[in-house]
Amino acid sequence: MTTLPPRAPNGLHVLDLCSGAGGLSMGYYLAGYDVTGVDLHPMPNYPFTFHQADALEYLERITASGEIERYDLVHASWPCQHFANVTNWRGNSADHPDLLTPGRELMQAAGRPWVIENVPEAPLRPDYLLCGSQFGLNVRRHRAFETSWGGGGDLLPPCWHHKGLLPFMHKAERAYADAMGCTWMNKTEARQAVPPAYSEWIGQQYLTHHQAAAPAA
Ligand SMILES: C[S@@+](CC[C@H](N)C(=O)[O-])C[C@H]1O[C@@H](n2cnc3c(N)ncnc32)[C@H](O)[C@@H]1O
Repeated sequence: MTTLPPRAPNGLHVLDLCSGAGGLSMGYYLAGYDVTGVDLHPMPNYPFTFHQADALEYLERITASGEIERYDLVHASWPCQHFANVTNWRGNSADHPDLLTPGRELMQAAGRPWVIENVPEAPLRPDYLLCGSQFGLNVRRHRAFETSWGGGGDLLPPCWHHKGLLPFMHKAERAYADAMGCTWMNKTEARQAVPPAYSEWIGQQYLTHHQAAAPAA
């Protein structure tokens, strides 16, 4: 059982679809959100409330039932293998379905603010394109985020690939997982994880956008 770090709750709740073992869930938590995760596979190390389910079916069902209204923000990390360059180095992208395209349609139909994360080569609008080096993490890991609010917000330092920055390597997986900030995961879970710092920052950008868009009291 992971001991969660203290944080200041903001009263908002994120549904994290395709949560894996919770890299991005942890970032939303640190930004103050409560988090519920959904993944196709069991995730015994996931630190928050978890449902094992197909995320497309789950989202469609809770949109139809109205349960979606419990969530202030819907995040999805649709599997990247269909789009990732690395898939074609080691296999065939046609063996992996595109869940991003139907997933985005369901997220738009759900009517809640949303965030989609994927590899930069995926067909999404990079409202935010983030690298570990922008957050002082010793990892080179680029991820793109498309949002329902179209991006904007605080400036970050540029990506800086200095000597010594860790690229993903199987022989140093534990060190890479820890450098991402995914210390509670095993190294297999961390292969697909995204650093919590990315979603902590995006969660903060959403709050700024949400507060700016709220009608004056
Ligand atoms: C890129 S990983 C997610 C990483 C996670 N966001 C993190 O930061 O730790 C994609 C996840 O999608 C899950 N997945 C694949 N197909 C799925 C489906 N149909 N429904 C739900 N989850 C699915 C995989 O098990 C995997 O954990």
